[in-house]
Amino acid sequence: MKTFLVGFLIGIVLLPAGFYWYLRSGNAPVATSAPPMPLEHFLVKTAIHATIDRHEIPIQLTNVNQDSLVAGAQIYQQDCSVCHGLPGQPPTAIAKGMYPRPPQFFRANAKKMDDAASEVYWKIKNGIRLTGMPGFYASLNDGQIRNLSALLENAVSLPPAASAALKNAPAKASEAAPPASKHTRSPHKRT
Ligand code: HEC
Repeated sequence: MKTFLVGFLIGIVLLPAGFYWYLRSGNAPVATSAPPMPLEHFLVKTAIHATIDRHEIPIQLTNVNQDSLVAGAQIYQQDCSVCHGLPGQPPTAIAKGMYPRPPQFFRANAKKMDDAASEVYWKIKNGIRLTGMPGFYASLNDGQIRNLSALLENAVSLPPAASAALKNAPAKASEAAPPASKHTRSPHKRT
């Protein structure tokens, strides 16, 4: 029993000390091109799923129609395409350099989104820490986030009008810059 306790105490001290040494060693992955840290994937995914399960508010995407999908597509091309890509276009320079990589929702062999609408809604609204996925709670309203959720849930079977709305998009951040003008555009705030 005594040996067990001594071993247990040493373990309690050694484990954090070892982890600290690992972080200080200069070998822990920090660059976006580096492989994941030990347990990184497990820790992050477990935390995300537990948090979403606990806090997501079940939402139903009712009234999804061509207009809501077109509206979602217009926001998507402005706020999301730079990371998540557009139909028929290669991933942007930004997407290629991120870790984790942003999923390319409209790539040719994309499958139907398997996340429930509530989960997609939660992620768009709150973002995902340490991944680069921003939360849009401060810039998009409930209806806009619903339209985006509907767009992604239906990404593989969009009506032509919504696909067309996506294609009008400048995918590169540089091209998306607003024209030089004294008036700053703020399309999302328009009511
Ligand atoms: C700056 C880059 C960036 C922008 C802009 C961005 N995202 Fe993301 N997004 C990410 C990354 C990176 C991930 C992957 C996170 C992960 O692996 O956990 C992600 C993940 C997601 C997911 C979860 C996908 C899944 O399979 O679980 C959804 C949904 C999503 N983004 C929607 C959006 C929408 C909608 C917008 C625009 C309103 C947007 N994102 C804008 C980088 C971005």
